[in-house]
Amino acid sequence: MSKTRVAVIPGDGIGPEITQATIDILEATGFEAEWIYLDAGLSAIEKGKSSMPQETVEAIREIKVALKGPTTTPSGGGHTSANVALRKALDLFANVRPAKTLPGVQGPFADKHLDLIIVRENTEDLYAGIEYKPHPDVAQSIKVITRQGSSRLFDYTFKMAREQGRKRVTVVHKANIMKLSDGLFLEEFYKAAAKNTDIKADDIIVDNCCMQLVTKPEQFDVLVTENLYGDIISDLCAGLVGGLGLAPGANIGYDCAVFEAVHGSAPDIAGKGVANPTAMLLSAVMMLRHLGRHEQADRITNSVLRVCSDGNCLTVDLGGHASTEEYAREVVSISRGQGAVA
Ligand code: NAI
Ligand code: MG
Repeated sequence: MSKTRVAVIPGDGIGPEITQATIDILEATGFEAEWIYLDAGLSAIEKGKSSMPQETVEAIREIKVALKGPTTTPSGGGHTSANVALRKALDLFANVRPAKTLPGVQGPFADKHLDLIIVRENTEDLYAGIEYKPHPDVAQSIKVITRQGSSRLFDYTFKMAREQGRKRVTVVHKANIMKLSDGLFLEEFYKAAAKNTDIKADDIIVDNCCMQLVTKPEQFDVLVTENLYGDIISDLCAGLVGGLGLAPGANIGYDCAVFEAVHGSAPDIAGKGVANPTAMLLSAVMMLRHLGRHEQADRITNSVLRVCSDGNCLTVDLGGHASTEEYAREVVSISRGQGAVA
């Protein structure tokens, strides 16, 4: 049987370290893939290419599934974000970011069972990249919300919610102020809700949502929101469950899917071998589920849960002393203890 082809962008900063650890774990637990390595981000720029080279986009378009490490986007200057470019080029319109407490991991809600999913619109809003200076002292960024972009996001979200046994979808918005753009988003949400009456649907204003999240997050189930609010809220939710080192994500389009952690390239700890690969590993678990490899996905998830609850081999961000490699070896060893993967 031919091996599954998976595109891999190792990325920048801690990207190559956590990508290697993730691939080592996937291979050691029986995922036989042909890994197609591609350039993006600062490492591509340093080779004289753009941050998201056309050949990288075309390769993922053809392979359809990619595992992506974080890429550095220099602030200001002329370089556009590799992520924004990829999400737009492949029309990866839904960014799914689960935030779930893990046993043994310290965090502000360690005593509660949090299990949220944030679905972030991934191609529109202020991230559409339409910025200009009508005057040297004035800069404008255009917020774009379309009916089609909103309705496909909500159709996807209700379908995903149903498939995952979720009971409630809450749309996060600021339609009281941005009456046209967020108003359109909210209108499309309730149209989709009317077609999915088996799932409870409601809405919340983004500032109140943040307050509710840091005081009583267990009240939420699935949150769906625009690009900018989703970017911010998903980091906030990562903090609720123990930090960015644990928060996975998937960028989903009709044809392609790119799996990557919520966090960035963490230049402050890059090259030290101490990054937590869990967020990327759990993103790879989402990829395994996308590919129908549920048994292996369960096995790796169980191993991660065991490593966390044992607490003997945690990385520095979780209060432990283990290196990226030691943690990866521990996950593999526990996974092997569960028997061979078919
Ligand atoms: P960041 O997410 O890279 O780091 C924030 C903090 O979390 C840092 O203290 C870092 O050490 C820590 N951290 C993040 N991931 C960790 C991990 N796996 N294990 C242990 N600690 C971890 O955010 P920052 O510093 O704002 O951004 C750095 C660069 O990453 C920027 O160029 C930014 O544009 C880019 N970025 C890329 C993303 C992507 O490629 N998907 C997403 C977010 C940011
Ligand atoms: Mg972000």
